[in-house]
Amino acid sequence: MIFDSKALSGQTFLVTGASSGIGRATAQLLAACGARILAMGRDEARTSESVGSLGTNADHVAIITAFEDADSAAQQVKEAAVTAGGVDGIFHAAGLELILPVKMTKQSSLDKLFAASVNTAFGIARAMAMKDVIRDGGSLVLMSSAAGLRGQAGMTAYSASKAAIDGLSRSLAVELAPRKIRVNSVASGAVETAMHGRLASSLPPAAMQAYEEKHLLGFGRTEDIANAVTFLLSPASRWITGTTMVVDGGFTVR
Ligand SMILES: NC(=O)c1ccc[n+]([C@@H]2O[C@H](COP(=O)([O-])OP(=O)(O)OC[C@H]3O[C@@H](n4cnc5c(N)ncnc54)[C@H](OP(=O)(O)O)[C@@H]3O)[C@@H](O)[C@H]2O)c1
Repeated sequence: MIFDSKALSGQTFLVTGASSGIGRATAQLLAACGARILAMGRDEARTSESVGSLGTNADHVAIITAFEDADSAAQQVKEAAVTAGGVDGIFHAAGLELILPVKMTKQSSLDKLFAASVNTAFGIARAMAMKDVIRDGGSLVLMSSAAGLRGQAGMTAYSASKAAIDGLSRSLAVELAPRKIRVNSVASGAVETAMHGRLASSLPPAAMQAYEEKHLLGFGRTEDIANAVTFLLSPASRWITGTTMVVDGGFTVR
């Protein structure tokens, strides 16, 4: 670990999608830096497993939540944060993939995709504007994707949802700046997680190899994103707001 084990001690962070992949790895790194984690996950067993992996340095909490829309997400996040005495930062990792040609992309799929990612991000933003949720000077990081920056067949809906996340970050950064709350997104390339595994099982090996070759440094690991998110949540990034940090192993460079 490149961070100090006490770098974030005394601080509390809420992480969505903490039951798996990037959310779980980031919760683990923040906890390893001394922070207390409010781990929001949909699956009870896997969220508890995540919390069990955080160690005993702080009073970590598992909060079982399925996100459906902005209003209920605002309520769920507000309740979790206020009960914990307020948070110093939030990482919104929860999200789904959707890989479908546009002619097969129906409203029901769009609703599910946008609910988990964009609508929940709006809910988190609304909660943050409420009293006693996030302390002034706090930080929000929203999980985005290189797919929001580049065109790819079969990715219209996913790409639109991540581009929406980047747009939301920029305007929210302006709206929350008077309280010195920073808002950034992380545009990730392909990282080996359960989501990535589902993609790999739907593509022929040759297509998967070509996809990996587009990443100049190969596919990423969850800790590659966790390191970037931890930096953006920490005071080390105190002068960074309204930006999309690209962490993609060189996927978008050419
Ligand atoms: N892996 C990649 O290559 C990659 C690249 C770019 C961006 N991303 C983004 O990174 C984020 C994390 O993805 P991952 O790769 O770590 O995938 P993952 O392992 O499948 O994790 C996704 C997480 O989101 C949660 N989730 C999904 N829908 C939800 C809902 N409606 N309510 C509450 N929780 C919900 C899942 O809960 P359950 O455990 O209950 O399913 C899980 O915790 C996503 O936003 C994804 O779009 C991933």
